[in-house]
Amino acid sequence: MGVKAVYPGSFDPVTNGHLDLMQRASVLFDEVVVAVLKNPGKNGAFPLSQRVSLLQEATRGLPRVRVDSFAGLLVDYASQVGARVIVRGLRAVSDFEYEFQMALMNRRLSAEIETVYLMPAEQYTYLSSGLVKEVASLGGCVDGLVPACVARALREFRGKEEKS
Ligand code: PNS
Repeated sequence: MGVKAVYPGSFDPVTNGHLDLMQRASVLFDEVVVAVLKNPGKNGAFPLSQRVSLLQEATRGLPRVRVDSFAGLLVDYASQVGARVIVRGLRAVSDFEYEFQMALMNRRLSAEIETVYLMPAEQYTYLSSGLVKEVASLGGCVDGLVPACVARALREFRGKEEKS
């Protein structure tokens, strides 16, 4: 039986930093389930269905990656899909505190599930979905920072915002 990992997040939207991590994870694990959080309390810039479809399009070349969404506790979702590993990215020291808290809380909730941290390539260490959205909404160029389908979606999003 292969080792399955869950890579959870908001992915609002997916960036090349996330994709770099998925590539790294798919070398280490037999299946990587990219799980988009359904957060009823937090409206993203992109609706959940679009975040999932952008991820599906962006991960077409990664056969070990599957895209899904989840609600509720991450550890419950990981158990449901038969994953004993949670993958998260660490870009810089500033990520550490939040990630450390989450990893230890998840361990308390489910001792069998281990969180594994992967570092993205250096060129993505400053990259975040929030920054990409800000730059794109102000007309800046995000080429090379997000997959082409996301760059398109960001342009459409900006066009809609300008009209409203
Ligand atoms: O991309 P993000 O927003 O940093 O991802 C955060 C995510 C989705 C990993 C986190 O909010 C999460 O796991 N939410 C599910 C609810 C849960 O299990 N909370 C307790 C974890 S400490």
